[in-house]
Amino acid sequence: MIIAIDGPAGSGKSTIAKLIAEDLGLVYLDTGAMYRLVTLKALNEGILGNLDKIVKMLDDLRIDIKKNGFYLDDTNVSEEIRKPIVSENVSDIAAIREVREKMVDLQRKFSESKNVILDGRDIGTVVFPNADVKIFLIADAKERANRRYKELVSKVENVKIEEIYENILKRDKIDSTRKESPLKKADDAIEVDTTSKNIEEVKNEILYIIKQKNKI
Ligand code: CDP
Repeated sequence: MIIAIDGPAGSGKSTIAKLIAEDLGLVYLDTGAMYRLVTLKALNEGILGNLDKIVKMLDDLRIDIKKNGFYLDDTNVSEEIRKPIVSENVSDIAAIREVREKMVDLQRKFSESKNVILDGRDIGTVVFPNADVKIFLIADAKERANRRYKELVSKVENVKIEEIYENILKRDKIDSTRKESPLKKADDAIEVDTTSKNIEEVKNEILYIIKQKNKI
């Protein structure tokens, strides 16, 4: 079984996907984290903006997704990939065709013969157009910035809500207007607006949708 959860930054995808995975005993794959890993490597190597070098870097990219976190070249970088510097640059990296081809390939291999819930921007449109269930999560941008602020404030120094809000708007724009696999709702995805709902309510709504599809 494949469940695809797409939507813009801060709409609640990863929180909900993790809970549904636990409830239904599915494996969860955070595809955004994969683009963040590529971005972190490009930052570490000082090659941001150099398309040729970024594409070349993909040949010796070693990323691992383990139960206890995300690994880049054998180092657990789960915290680093959430830092503002990564958020500021990830949408430019994710717009590169070669980067997407490699990530989509890894996502499909990872999901082979497993029951998986994946969250991202292009899961229902490109990665798994035949997914069993497709959800498109949305929420008001101010509310999304609020949620991201609460998440980051205890972990990252000097977070400012205005900057988070600007970053969310900027990423929404790049992600939805890029040429390669732009963020958009698949025709057969069900849209869920999470703006004024709590986590439990969204989770139950999605579990209900999955049940309606006779998938559990
Ligand atoms: O968690 P948040 O909503 O901040 O974003 P994320 O899921 O970690 O994704 C980070 C970035 O990766 C997005 O802004 C997209 O540019 C890119 N992305 C993508 O292009 N395709 C995906 N399937 C997942 C993420």
